[in-house]
Order: sequence, then C-alpha cells, then structure tokens
Amino acid sequence: MAIDKKFIDQFVDVTSKAALASTYLVGKKDKIAADKAAVDSMRAELNKIDIQGEIVIGEGELDDAPMLYIGEKLGNNRKGPEFDIAVDPLEGTNFAANNLPGALSVIAVAEKNNLFKAPETYMEKISTRVNEKNVIDLDFTVKKNISNLSDYLNKSPENLTACILDRPRHKEIIDELNKLKVNLKLITDGDISGALLVTEEKYNVDIFLGIGGGPEGVLSAAALDTFNCNFQGRFLFKTDEDKARAKKMGINDLTKKYELNEIVTGDTIFCATGITSGDLVAGIKIQGNDFVSETLVTHKSSGLKKVIKLKQNLQ
Ligand code: FBP
Repeated sequence: MAIDKKFIDQFVDVTSKAALASTYLVGKKDKIAADKAAVDSMRAELNKIDIQGEIVIGEGELDDAPMLYIGEKLGNNRKGPEFDIAVDPLEGTNFAANNLPGALSVIAVAEKNNLFKAPETYMEKISTRVNEKNVIDLDFTVKKNISNLSDYLNKSPENLTACILDRPRHKEIIDELNKLKVNLKLITDGDISGALLVTEEKYNVDIFLGIGGGPEGVLSAAALDTFNCNFQGRFLFKTDEDKARAKKMGINDLTKKYELNEIVTGDTIFCATGITSGDLVAGIKIQGNDFVSETLVTHKSSGLKKVIKLKQNLQ
C-alpha cells in the first residue's frame, strides 16, 4: 500500500518546524541545546498528526544527547495508519553550533515494519547513481570500485569525484583515491547529505563511501531508494555492549552487508529541511513575522523528489 500523499505536507511541516526551532541556537556553541530544540519540536509536531507512529531510528543513544527514543510511540490517532519513523532532528550538530553550512533536520517514514530497526552504531556505506549489480560493491576494493565506475560512466578516474567524511579512520581509502587521481569532496560532518550528493549530476559527486553513523545510513537509504540510486551498508559493532544490543534488536548476523532494499522496503516519505544553507537545501531565513524553509522531499510511490520552498508564519 502507498502512503497517502496528504502526509507529505505534514512531514515537511515537521522538519521545517524542527529546523526553525534549532535556528535560534545556530552559532551558540551549544550542540546539545540546538539538538534538543529540534527534538522537542519534532516530537510535538509528530504528535499532532493523525498516525500511529513508532520511532525505529532515533539519535543520541550513545552520547546521552536528547533524543526521540527507539520504540517511542508518536501520533494523534489510535486508528491512523501505522508508520515506522526514522529521525535525525538535527543532523550536523557541529554545523549548527558553529554556524557552518549543512545542518539539516531529517525524517523518513515508511509503513510499519518496512524500515530497518538499527541501533546507534557506525556503518560502512557506499552509494552511487549507478544502480546495476556488480559495478559498485562494499566488498570490492576502492581500486576495483573506481575502475568499474570509470568504465561504466565512461569517465576517467581524474574526472570522478568521491565524497567521504574527513576522518583519520579513512586515511587508507583517501590515500588510495589520491593515488587513483580521483577528485575528493571531503566533508567534516553530515554524511546524509554526503550520501545524497550522488543523486543528481549537478552536485558533481559520483560515489560516496566510508564509515559514518548507522542511523544516518538508514535515513539516506530511504531517499536514495526514490532516486533509484544504489546503497549498501554494513553495521560495525565494536564493543560487546554494541553486539548484545544488536542481537536484542533482532540482528543475528553482525557482519552482514545490507542492500538498500533490505534496509528500506515499500513506500516512503523522506524530508530534509535546511537549518544552515548547504549543498542540498538553503537554511532557514526569518523575514519579519515569517520564516522561509527549503526541504528536500521524496515520496517513493508518486516518484516525487524535489526541493519545496515554504513561507510560513512564525506564530
Ligand atoms: P551529529 O549531527 O550527531 O553530530 O552527526 C554528524 C555526523 O557527521 C554524521 O553525519 C555522521 O554519520 C557522523 O557524525 C560521523 O560520526 P563521527 O563524527 O564519529 O565520525
């Protein structure tokens, strides 16, 4: 079954309001407060919608950040449709705290039991526009992926661009990409945006790869599905505590490589509203009694994928 189109505007409203709430804390050097503002707003707005929602991906579990808890029930109607909800009310807490480009408020919604229930842990990820088997694969070496992509797109490695989080853990991958003369787009944070830069040629990113947050991976996969892009992810469980938690959530094979459609199935709505301006969307602008927001929205069943600009009253 498809998710009714009427919910699109309502979820855009949720991320727009959460982005607005966080905007007042942009540049205040307080990640927790900026996150909390977005979380509180998101919870309040989701509770106004006529749905029976359950948070399957929340954030902050590991560092005691304010969060919408996994398993938390949200919505205003005990008879409304049942949805799985993944949230990242403030993606890029450093961006917001330091008034840097790229902070987003993000949500993905699927029908019940269609979004992967993931614990907060790291995930090895890869995404490309090329949605054909055996071109790009998490199990291939960087060299093989680049060579395959280069052949497939008929572009020499010098004309390919790879996006990756700038982290010491990625030194080997970055060195290899350098050796292959691939252009780099090194991001300091915000790998939902990073993964989504492969969706359209205008962003000039051919491949996104590396290790980032698992919740961010699931959220990215929801949007990438509507763009018909490729995504693979493998959770990385380091500590015994991580492993035990994963088992409790029903993950038995801890080293499994997940294809996009094992992470998200069926219909979805994805919304990412800009808090500060970034590659995908512009940030919130307050104009007198109004605020203007930009939201990247996807709705799988209707094929909707566009940026919606909204002017709303501040109330
Ligand atoms: P926060 O918004 O929770 O600060 O996450 C930002 C982020 O850059 C994510 O986009 C990314 O998945 C993760 O942090 C990477 O984690 P780390 O900073 O530990 O490398």
